[in-house]
Amino acid sequence: MTGGLTLVGVGPGDPSLLTLAAVEAIRQAQVVAYPVGRPGADSMAARIATDWIRSDHQCLPLLFPMVEAAEPRRAAWETAAQQLQNIVRSGQRVALLCEGDASLFASCSYVLLAILQEWPDCPVTVIPGITSCSAAAAAGLWPLALQQDQLLVRPCPDTPEELGVVLDTAATTGQVLALLKLGRRWSWVQPLLRQRSLLDQALFAERVGWPEQRICSADAVDAEPRPYFSLLLIRQGWPDVLP
Ligand SMILES: C[S@@+](CC[C@H](N)C(=O)[O-])C[C@H]1O[C@@H](n2cnc3c(N)ncnc32)[C@H](O)[C@@H]1O
Repeated sequence: MTGGLTLVGVGPGDPSLLTLAAVEAIRQAQVVAYPVGRPGADSMAARIATDWIRSDHQCLPLLFPMVEAAEPRRAAWETAAQQLQNIVRSGQRVALLCEGDASLFASCSYVLLAILQEWPDCPVTVIPGITSCSAAAAAGLWPLALQQDQLLVRPCPDTPEELGVVLDTAATTGQVLALLKLGRRWSWVQPLLRQRSLLDQALFAERVGWPEQRICSADAVDAEPRPYFSLLLIRQGWPDVLP
């Protein structure tokens, strides 16, 4: 048997947004690995791909604690990298599921880097997935970038001051902003956008692709903490030539 590792982007939530390549990689794998935030916790990526995980798949939850401290995170990546390498060396195929796209703010990217450091020729492939910001833009009928627009995808800043600078730069350079990891920051982001009269130019997206999905203009969302799976798209200007 030839072992191998495939990082599989499973999209943001709607199971129909897995690519054919993602489904095929899961089908061919003997082991399906996925990130969990604590032992026994649910995995968002595994839930999205649940229709394709069979009873004869060996499931491997990989613990990636959601903490700021560097050492527990490094230890978790290293442990995961070792587990996955052992599976590949044993001749099995393993699919590591990643929520959204597998290369965009994805825990599995750290595991990929750790594995390639130790084993540069490890047989590994990455299957891209639909990102949460693409899915949000599509669901909101909200063009992400046109003509000379720039698109800046980044985590939401931690302070109003920092977000103010990001907004100023975006306004002067024609950047559309996709702010991930919005969540609890929304309680102060909302008043800042209101102050700048930007709420009706921003799209709020929560749990995109899930049954409880909420996609609306940001001026419809109260200034309260929102779930981790929420993001904001902000456009401060449009190109001159439009229909
Ligand atoms: C660690 S990043 C993962 C990004 C992911 N790899 C992607 O391609 O979109 C997590 C952040 O992505 C955003 N996100 C991911 N899935 C989402 C969803 N279904 N609905 C809304 N936001 C989502 C949220 O801002 C969340 O805090």
